[in-house]
Amino acid sequence: MGTPFIAFIGPTKLDGYNRKLSSSKQPGSIPKTFLDAMEVREEVFVQEQGVPQDNEFDTDDARACHWVIYASINTTTVPEQTDADGNLVTRKQSITTSKPIGTIRLVPFPHPPHPEPGSSYAADALETAPLSKSPAYIVDRATTYHDGKEPYIKLGRLAVVKEFRGSGIAKLLVSAATTWAEQNPSHFNPSIKTMGMEKMGALLCDEIPVWKGLICVHAQEKVEKVWARWGFKVDDAMGTWIEEGIKHVGMFQRLNLEKKEG
Ligand SMILES: CC(C)(COP(=O)(O)OP(=O)(O)OC[C@H]1O[C@@H](n2cnc3c(N)ncnc32)[C@H](O)[C@@H]1OP(=O)(O)O)[C@@H](O)C(=O)NCCC(=O)NCCS
Repeated sequence: MGTPFIAFIGPTKLDGYNRKLSSSKQPGSIPKTFLDAMEVREEVFVQEQGVPQDNEFDTDDARACHWVIYASINTTTVPEQTDADGNLVTRKQSITTSKPIGTIRLVPFPHPPHPEPGSSYAADALETAPLSKSPAYIVDRATTYHDGKEPYIKLGRLAVVKEFRGSGIAKLLVSAATTWAEQNPSHFNPSIKTMGMEKMGALLCDEIPVWKGLICVHAQEKVEKVWARWGFKVDDAMGTWIEEGIKHVGMFQRLNLEKKEG
């Protein structure tokens, strides 16, 4: 594998995406980077982990930022051939293609309420209502690291294709997403001009939700230790719940936003 490179796609209209179909059968209007993210998610979550195809794409995808990591793969098309004396007869020929091998997404607030401990959901039950119908933030129950009010962003859909695991690909993706968030904190704050004070759920200017660096993850319990390596801490009060048949825990991290916005 050559040096991997990372592509970014910000919030994008994904009208026309048919969640019943795989990424390879989507209309030409859907951006390639997003289709590549879905290709990885289908390979990992749908084929490997058994999540239904219909639940893999959700309404958060259009408003999220996505990162996709690619590997350059060199494939020999014609092997080198030599004659009996060892003289070169045919030079080796190869082609280099790039393959999406990992992805992650970052969903801005608002989010649906924290899952109830002990509950069981399908992924789409946790989707946020279309932004036009929801306020900029909701008041949630307080947990260990979240007071129920502070706006937080959510990292998720972290997936690395099986044969590329264990080489730091997920680490690169998490680092790309958190660095971008650190450099673009105001990206997440709603604009009064486009939303209006009422829809923001704020009456006074100082009640307007502002992102202060809090990041949440709904982590599969079996990879909780992986997220912990990147600074996320289990939120005990969030408890555990089942999402798509897989046990999850809530984890939080607070980024230091004192660095200058890029
Ligand atoms: C979890 C997943 C994304 C990790 O991808 P990866 O590219 O192999 O991870 P990395 O190589 O970047 O490893 C990151 C760190 O976690 C550790 N790690 C990786 N997998 C681990 C595991 N299953 N258990 C414990 N530690 C693990 C690595 O040793 C590494 O530690 P280091 O930075 O101290 O060396 C990948 O296994 C995957 O796609 N799993 C299936 C989908 C999934 O469960 N997604 C998470 C949803 S919450």
